[in-house]
This record gives sequence, structure tokens and C-alpha cells, in this order.
Amino acid sequence: MTKIGLGLAALGRPEYINIRKEKNIDKSEATFKQNAFNMLDIAYRLGIRYFDTAPSYGKGELFLKEWQKNKCYKDTLLATKWGYTYVANWQLGYKDAHEIKEHSIEKLIEQWETSKELLPNLKVYQIHSATLESGVLENTKVLKKLHELKTEIGLKIGITTSGPHQNTVLKEASQIKINNVFLFDVFQVTYNVFEQSTYQTLLNLSNKGRKVVIKEGVANGRVFVETPKILKDIANSHQTTVDVIALRFIIDTIQPTIVLSGAFTEYQLTSNLKALDITLSSQEIAALKKLAVVPETYWKSRQLLKWE
Ligand SMILES: NC(=O)c1ccc[n+]([C@@H]2O[C@H](COP(=O)([O-])OP(=O)(O)OC[C@H]3O[C@@H](n4cnc5c(N)ncnc54)[C@H](OP(=O)(O)O)[C@@H]3O)[C@@H](O)[C@H]2O)c1
Repeated sequence: MTKIGLGLAALGRPEYINIRKEKNIDKSEATFKQNAFNMLDIAYRLGIRYFDTAPSYGKGELFLKEWQKNKCYKDTLLATKWGYTYVANWQLGYKDAHEIKEHSIEKLIEQWETSKELLPNLKVYQIHSATLESGVLENTKVLKKLHELKTEIGLKIGITTSGPHQNTVLKEASQIKINNVFLFDVFQVTYNVFEQSTYQTLLNLSNKGRKVVIKEGVANGRVFVETPKILKDIANSHQTTVDVIALRFIIDTIQPTIVLSGAFTEYQLTSNLKALDITLSSQEIAALKKLAVVPETYWKSRQLLKWE
């Protein structure tokens, strides 16, 4: 049964690809930390146990580590990544890229030193946005190090994918074996009503018992600003909101292990969680399937979202 997890991409840093209308949010680190702790508490109270972060989510790893340390929960499952460094340094209006990609063995070793402080609740360790171009899937030093973390610490090793070639990357990564055992256990992928290009691959992975985690389930909030009529109509007929339908579509079509909520507020999280309590008819699913756009178009629009 699919569960909902909470991602910290919007909670750990002051600027992200937000679509929110309310602009006068206090963006101090203290306020963000308080909000992150509140959201983690609310999530836990509502039954969420899977939390996803990354070094590039500003203070996301640190907030999660401190919260976990204070609460001492035994049943939380923490996931993080390596491969991107946050460089905006909480500077508002930072003009250049807020995160820099580097898929080298040196970066893996450096970021692992900090991320390992999330142990023992850290269970999933992922390559952040693996691509064929970065060569990370052929970097034997990196793959060996990940294999070492898998066998010596018992971590599940994952990749996350973004961009129009997600499908190719997933297929390639899912075949990699070390000592005759598949290296990657977890596949964190963008899949939503607009970006469905990985549908068959994700089904195949799930059917083989590999773990599928879905990110960007409401297309970074775009389902609210570019709402197709059919999505709105289905939401109305269920007397609910479009996020609930968009997230339920994911659950009903591929039954992933986890769907990540990117909620920034209690209202958003509570709303996202309602996706667990409805069912879509086969006609509704068929209608929503038609909302898919070609991946190149989807990722072009995604690239145009402003960091603010
Ligand atoms: N591996 C990767 O490269 C990668 C990339 C992206 C995300 N992720 C992971 O996936 C998680 C989720 O992704 P995401 O946050 O980028 O995308 P998302 O879940 O598709 O979008 C989340 C955003 O949608 C808006 N939203 C959600 N529910 C809403 C509601 N009920 N009403 C109004 N607005 C609502 C909010 O925007 P506002 O806050 O602007 O209102 C929220 O921040 C992240 O936290 C992260 O853990 C991983």
C-alpha cells in the first residue's frame, strides 16, 4: 500500500521553485527552522514516517537531524542524497544557480561525512539527479563506495531522476549489479498527470519488488496554476481539491512505495494526505492519462520556474 512521505526541499531553504501567492513570508533561518520542526511534528502525528532531504536543501539535513535527535523516534525512515551542493547560503534573491551538481567520488565522500549523522534512522541514500551525461553510473569508484555503504551499513541505495531522459536513466541504473546483486533498491522519480513518460518502467520496477518513490507529484504546484478542466471537474465531483486527485492518480496508476508531499504548510500537507482516502474510477484515470505532455515540453516548463 502506498504511503505518503514528506520532502524537505521547500522547508530547508528560503527560496525554491515556489508558486505560492503569499510573498511576505518571514524568510529568516529561525522562522524556517520553526516551520520545519512544526511540519515534521504534524507529519509524524498524521502518520508519516518517511522523510526525504538532501544537502542541497539548505538546512534540510540539519533540521531533520536535529528534529530526529530531539524526538528519538524509532520508526522514522530518513532518506537523503549526495551530488548537489547548496551554494546560495541563505542569500535572498541569489542570482546564480542555488545548487551545484558534482557527481565525483570526492563529493560522495565529503557529503557522506555529514549525512551519516542521520544514522541510525537514515535508511535510503541516493544519487541526486543521476544522468547519463554525468557519467556517474559508470564511475566504478562511486558505485563501489555505494555498494560498501549498502553491505556494511545496510542502507538502501537509490537514484533520483529529473529531466526528459528519466526513463533511459532508470532502465540503465536498474540493471547495474555488483557481486551479482542489483546496486539500486530505490528509484525516486518525477511522475504526475503531466509527466507520465516513466509509467511502464516504474510498473516493471514495482512488479520486481524494487522501491519506487514519486516526487513532484503536483508538478511543483503547477496543477494549481495550470489546472486542466478535466482535473478541476474530477476534483469537483469528489468535492475535493486538485492536489488530492493528482496524487491519487499516481497511487492508482503505479502503486508506488511512497509519494512525497512537498508541503510547506499544515493546510497543504493535510490536503495532500486526503489522496489516501479516495478512489478514482477507471474512466477518471483514463481521462487523466490524456493530460500527459511530451517530456521535453514538461521539463522545458519546469526549467522556466523561478527560484523565489
Ligand atoms: N531528487 C530530486 O531532484 C528532487 C527534485 C524535486 C523534489 N524532490 C523531492 O520531492 C519532494 C516534493 O517535491 P516538490 O516540492 O518539488 O514538488 P511538489 O510536491 O509537486 O510541489 C510542492 C508544492 O506544491 C504546492 N502545494 C502542494 N500542496 C498544495 C496545496 N494543497 N495547496 C496549494 N499549493 C500546494 C506548494 O507550493 P508553494 O509552497 O509555493 O505554495 C508546495 O511547495 C521534495 O520536497 C523533495 O524531497 C526531489
